[in-house]
Amino acid sequence: MKGIILAGGKGTRLYPCTRVTNKHLLPVYDQPMIYYPLKLLINAGIKDILIISGEGHAGDFLELLKDGREFGAKISYSVQMEAGGIAQALGLAEDFADKEKVVVILGDNIFENDLSLYVKSFENQEKGARLFLKEVNDANRFGVAEVKDERIVGIEEKPKAPKSNLAVTGLYMYDGSVFDVIKTLRPSDRGELEITDVNNYYINNSITNYDILDGFWSDAGTFESLFRTSEFMKSKK
Ligand code: G1P
Repeated sequence: MKGIILAGGKGTRLYPCTRVTNKHLLPVYDQPMIYYPLKLLINAGIKDILIISGEGHAGDFLELLKDGREFGAKISYSVQMEAGGIAQALGLAEDFADKEKVVVILGDNIFENDLSLYVKSFENQEKGARLFLKEVNDANRFGVAEVKDERIVGIEEKPKAPKSNLAVTGLYMYDGSVFDVIKTLRPSDRGELEITDVNNYYINNSITNYDILDGFWSDAGTFESLFRTSEFMKSKK
């Protein structure tokens, strides 16, 4: 299985800190943010990794991480030239994935627990997708899963009235058909190809399994969440 880290976006919620650098290069406690998803994948045995960043900062990732040797991985790079959304960025990984299953992680998502068992489960899953949910108090900030009889029946992106407290975290496992799914998508009201639409496609058309995570999880894309995540990482030292 191959790994894809999505590290684009303008990071406007962290202005002015992201005016001249990429959000994923900012520190979370004592390491650049991107180290966390990178090490998470590597520790789970995913060592062939593509990092997709935005225009203007791709060179900084290359300077920082080089070919990945220092981390025991092989890192490749790609650049998303437009603000076309998470799913559009993922679409750039089609040649890299070469029809294999992929683990996709949003570069600002920080997970406490190791992923090895989940990776094994998905290796054994015949086809489809695997999603990772987390109980939260502020579900309206995220994609929110509706679960009935232990199956996900749908996901709503940032709903005003969430149907559950289960946030869809930025960790996704897909079979090789994900790139065909992306080609069927239409831009959302905010003009982007939404990862939630990819997930709903799998829910409606294929096998979509999920796990509910129990360890710490946070995005780190706002000052509040960045600070909270840094504090958590400090407390673990
Ligand atoms: C994205 C996804 C959302 C998901 C979240 C996790 O939102 O669209 O479904 O719950 O990441 O961090 P964003 O934070 O990019 O607005």
